Amino acid sequence: MELTIEGKIYHNGSFEQGCLAIEQGKIVAIKKTLKADSHLNVGTNLILPAGIDLHVHFRDPGFTHKEDFSTGSAAAAFGGISCVFDMPNTQPQTISTQTLMEKAHLASQKSYVDFGLYAAVTDENIGRLAELSTLCAGFKIFLGSSTHSLRLSPQNLRDALVETNRTKKITLLHAEDEHCLKAHEGREQTLVDHLRCRSAECEETALRAILQNAHGLSSPIHICHISSCEGFEMLRKRPRNISVGVTPHHLFFDVHSLNTKQAFYKVNPPIRSSFDRDTLWYGVNNKLIDLFESDHAPHTEKEKTVDFDSAPSGVPGVETLYPLLLASMKKGQITLVTLLALLCEKPSQLLHLPKGKIEVGRDADFVVVDMKKIETITADHLHSKCGWTPFEGFPAIFPTMVLIRGESIIEDHQLLVKQGFGKCVGV
Ligand code: DOR
Ligand code: ZN
Repeated sequence: MELTIEGKIYHNGSFEQGCLAIEQGKIVAIKKTLKADSHLNVGTNLILPAGIDLHVHFRDPGFTHKEDFSTGSAAAAFGGISCVFDMPNTQPQTISTQTLMEKAHLASQKSYVDFGLYAAVTDENIGRLAELSTLCAGFKIFLGSSTHSLRLSPQNLRDALVETNRTKKITLLHAEDEHCLKAHEGREQTLVDHLRCRSAECEETALRAILQNAHGLSSPIHICHISSCEGFEMLRKRPRNISVGVTPHHLFFDVHSLNTKQAFYKVNPPIRSSFDRDTLWYGVNNKLIDLFESDHAPHTEKEKTVDFDSAPSGVPGVETLYPLLLASMKKGQITLVTLLALLCEKPSQLLHLPKGKIEVGRDADFVVVDMKKIETITADHLHSKCGWTPFEGFPAIFPTMVLIRGESIIEDHQLLVKQGFGKCVGV
C-alpha cells in the first residue's frame, strides 16, 4: 500500500469512520483500520467522491482572455471537481480530427484535473463522426444559436443522432429551437427581454424534435441545462437512454429576484420564473433530473458590462458547483444521496469513467469536507480568469483537500500539482 487515508468515509450509501488504501491511483481496500507508511488522518471530516462536471467551456484555444485550460481546471480543482468535459465552441471549433488533437494536446499540457473533449456535430461533419469518436468523449449538438455556437440544422438531426448512436458515445444537446428563437428575436435591454426572446416554447419545440428523432436509438443522449417547467414536464416520461441535466444558475436564481438590467445573468437558456426554478428543485429531489452540470461559461466583466443587447450569454460556475450544493445540503434542500448521485455517480456512468464512487477498483478521486466550515462566495477567492461570479455572497462549503488518482492536488488553499497533471479520459 502506498497511502492510507482515515476519516468519515461515504461508502455504500452511508458514513463509516474508517480507512482507504490507495495503490497506483486506485482504491484497493476500504476497512476499519489500515495503515501504510504514508497515512493521512482527516479526523471526523467527511471523505466524499470528487465531483464530475460534464459541461464546461474552458475557451481554449481561441478565447483565452476569458479562460484557458489552466485557469479553468484550477477553478475545477479548488471546487472539488476531478474531471471536466469541455465544449467545442472554441476557436477553432472542435469539429475535426485535427482540432480535437490540437485541443487534446494543449489540455494535456495545461490541465490540473482529468478532462474529456466533445466534438460538435455540424451539417458538414456528419459523415465523419465515426472517425472523430476515436478522439472525443462524446458529441455536442446545438439546435439553437448561442455564444460562439455551431448550429446543426433541424433537418439533419435524425442523421446526426443515428451516426452518433453508432459510435456508442454520449450526445449532448442544447435544446433551444432556432426557428422559434428567430421568430421571437428583438432588441434586448433586460433579462426579462432575454426571457421573452428565448421563451419556454423554444425549449419545448427543441425537446419535441429530439424525442422524435431519437426514436429507437439506444446510446446515451443527454439534454443539457433543462430550464423550464414545460420542458421538464415533456421529459418526465422519456426513454431510458435520455438523461437530463440542470445547472446551479437555473436552481438558485429566478429572473424577478435579479437586477434585470445587468447582463451578468444573461445566459442561454435563460433564467426563468420562481415557478420554473421550484419545478427544477422538485425534479432534482424526485429522481426526475439525472445530473448537475455547471455550464461554466466565463466571459470577462468588460464583455458583460457593455450594452445589454451586445453582451455575450453565459456565466461561470465550475468552482462553485459542489460547494453551493454542499451548503444546500446543510440547509436541508437536498440529501447527500441525491447530491452524490447527480454530481458524481450519474456523470461517471454516462461517460464510462472509473470514478464517481468510493469503491474498490475505482480512481482515488476524493474531496475532504468540513461541514462546519461555511464560507461566503466571493470572486476574489475564486480561480477563473473571468474574475466574477454570479454567486457572490452565497453560502458554500469548499473542500479542504482534493485528491485525484490518490494524489493530493489541493491542500490549505494551495494547488500542489503542476499543470499537465490532468489526464485525457473518455477516448
Ligand atoms: O449562455 C450560454 N453560454 N449558453 C451556451 O450555450 C454557450 C455558452 C458560452 O459558451 O458562452
Ligand atoms: Zn454550455
